[in-house]
Amino acid sequence: MKIGIPAETLPGETRVAATPETVKKLVAAKHQVLVQSGAGTLSSITDQAYAAAGAQVVSAAEAFAAETVLKVRAPSAEEHGLLKSGTVVVGMLNPFDAENIVVMANHGLTAFALEAAPRTSRAQSMDVLSSQANIAGYKAVMVAANTYQRFIPMLMTAAGTVKAARMLIMGAGVAGLQAIATAKRLGAVIEASDVRPAVKEQIESLGAKFLDVPFITDEEKECAEGVGGYARPMPADWMRRQSELVHERAKQADIIITTALIPGRKAPVLIGEETVKAMKPGSVILDMAVEQGGNCPLSEAGKTVIKHGVHIIGAGNLATQVAADASALYARNVLDFLKLIVNPEGGLSINREDDIVAATLLCSGGEVLRK
Ligand code: NAI
Repeated sequence: MKIGIPAETLPGETRVAATPETVKKLVAAKHQVLVQSGAGTLSSITDQAYAAAGAQVVSAAEAFAAETVLKVRAPSAEEHGLLKSGTVVVGMLNPFDAENIVVMANHGLTAFALEAAPRTSRAQSMDVLSSQANIAGYKAVMVAANTYQRFIPMLMTAAGTVKAARMLIMGAGVAGLQAIATAKRLGAVIEASDVRPAVKEQIESLGAKFLDVPFITDEEKECAEGVGGYARPMPADWMRRQSELVHERAKQADIIITTALIPGRKAPVLIGEETVKAMKPGSVILDMAVEQGGNCPLSEAGKTVIKHGVHIIGAGNLATQVAADASALYARNVLDFLKLIVNPEGGLSINREDDIVAATLLCSGGEVLRK
């Protein structure tokens, strides 16, 4: 089968959907791999490295003309112009963008959004949300530490002692837990909050303190259990009690990293303007949810602003800033997913009864299939 790897064209996107490591495996499985010249440049992968792995280095038109096209992001209008009807497209195609799913369906694409895979053990090796959020959580600490004008670890020097930085991590999913682990390695004193009580143990095992907001009603308890492991919006009264506790802890914090998301919805507001005002001058907030509306209403996507003396970094999609490793892990996720839809003879074989296939398939044969 011909497999195309185009260069991504979305501004700020640095990743690529295949690396020489995964190309080698696809070629060994008798596929013809067509990589657009320059596709790996922003991930530090040269055309020569792809060619040495067995790929043909081609133009954008040739990469998009393949039977199966591996992407990072959903095709743009220009890219649609290069895709033939009937092409299989695999990528992070945004399963919540209903309008774009209709565009892809009308174009006759068979489109798989890897973000929609269930969070089950069988799907773990193709879990792009985890592979990318893990990287983003690490990078968030690096970026925040870079803006923070003091040391992170406690230091005892001849000139006196420096106190360890206090970090507050809001949301302890994959990104938040990696942020805790990274901040711990740097020597920070860490507190973390989440709606899901199941994460308390994980937070504590990484050496951070869990900020507990006890549930008063059954409704709160039920909401906190979420759906499929994901959070649901919490009742207003719980959010108010959480925000009071966070307000007090934020006054002591030097760095706050917010990662809280609710799939398919606006991110919850966790650090309001009054809390920012109460923070110490020179402290840092890094809002990873900025592209979903923000956990802090003062954050601005792609910018660092100083408000009330606090540096507020609006940093969505941080995995793109660790492009080489982000591509390496993403490409492995994609390769594992392909094994599900390609038969041993190397042809496509899409079994809609398979739960991962069913969950990720957005459209096929002109029909929107996303539930
Ligand atoms: P996410 O990126 O959707 O959200 C980040 C975190 O924000 C979550 O922990 C969520 O509970 C939290 N959050 C939402 N509202 C909040 C609020 N008001 N205050 C504080 N925190 C709030 O989450 P992610 O990282 O995608 O993880 C989702 C679930 O999937 C988790 O249960 C995780 O353990 C599970 N998972 C399972 C895997 C598997 O079994 N294969 C692999 C990876 C994750």
